[in-house]
Amino acid sequence: MSFLKGAAIYFSGTGNTEYVAKLFAKEFSDKGHEITLIDASKKTNFNDDYSFLIFGSVIHAEMFPNVFMDWVRKNIKQGNNRKCIVFSTQAANKAAGANILADELKEKGFDVRVVEYITMPNNYYLVGFGKDSQERKDTLKEQAKKKVKDMVDAFINDKKSIKTSSKIRKTFANIEYPLFLKYSKPWARKKISVDTSLCVKCMKCVKNCPTKNIYFEEEIKFKNNCISCQRCLHLCPVNAFKYKGRHFEQYRI
Ligand SMILES: Cc1cc2nc3c(=O)[nH]c(=O)nc-3n(C[C@H](O)[C@H](O)[C@H](O)COP(=O)(O)O)c2cc1C
Repeated sequence: MSFLKGAAIYFSGTGNTEYVAKLFAKEFSDKGHEITLIDASKKTNFNDDYSFLIFGSVIHAEMFPNVFMDWVRKNIKQGNNRKCIVFSTQAANKAAGANILADELKEKGFDVRVVEYITMPNNYYLVGFGKDSQERKDTLKEQAKKKVKDMVDAFINDKKSIKTSSKIRKTFANIEYPLFLKYSKPWARKKISVDTSLCVKCMKCVKNCPTKNIYFEEEIKFKNNCISCQRCLHLCPVNAFKYKGRHFEQYRI
């Protein structure tokens, strides 16, 4: 196959999806191709001159979060029959988000070749679903590597490999996500506080919040537009945040 120049466009709250996007970049590069990594929460202007695209996001409440979907809708105009890969990362073994985006991409004229769900450690343990052991984390990372290799092989060998979600599951996701957002928007403001004796005012949380929901006014404060991605909590260099008044162990992939 001739040289391919693609882009992997992703949204990652706490690093799992970024980890997988990097696995794609490595796998394609090992096979002599080139992938540019594009973090949709940072890149605002995008020049779409790639011969193929990879789309990947974290799953929040069955869906790809709006920050990612909106970025794709705004920046990716024409499929022009280009091939693409869509993947999600989630704690369970499947979710409808990747299929919902894949349907939109087909409508834009993309040739969707691969759709896959990649199970990664749960980063939402403050709220529920349990924390994964180091052993399980290691296993999931190994499984992700193998899945990415298989996906890239299928793509390069022009084989279709599409996981599907039922119509009911997709409909349910479209109902569940807006309800989740309603709960989520005031989540940080209500549940998260900052230990001011620890905070070093580095503003990392302010700069990295994907919805610009955090500001500094004598101390770190939240607005009403949280998507619960958990980035601020786990990115803080001094672990200054508290959930419901208590310190917690930060998530690391
Ligand atoms: C707000 C929120 C909602 C989540 N909802 C789901 C879900 O519906 N299904 C699931 O399997 N995992 C869910 N998870 C777990 C994450 O999808 C999973 O840990 C993901 O790999 C994290 O990726 P990231 O590090 O790129 O943000 C959720 C996590 C968060 C923070």
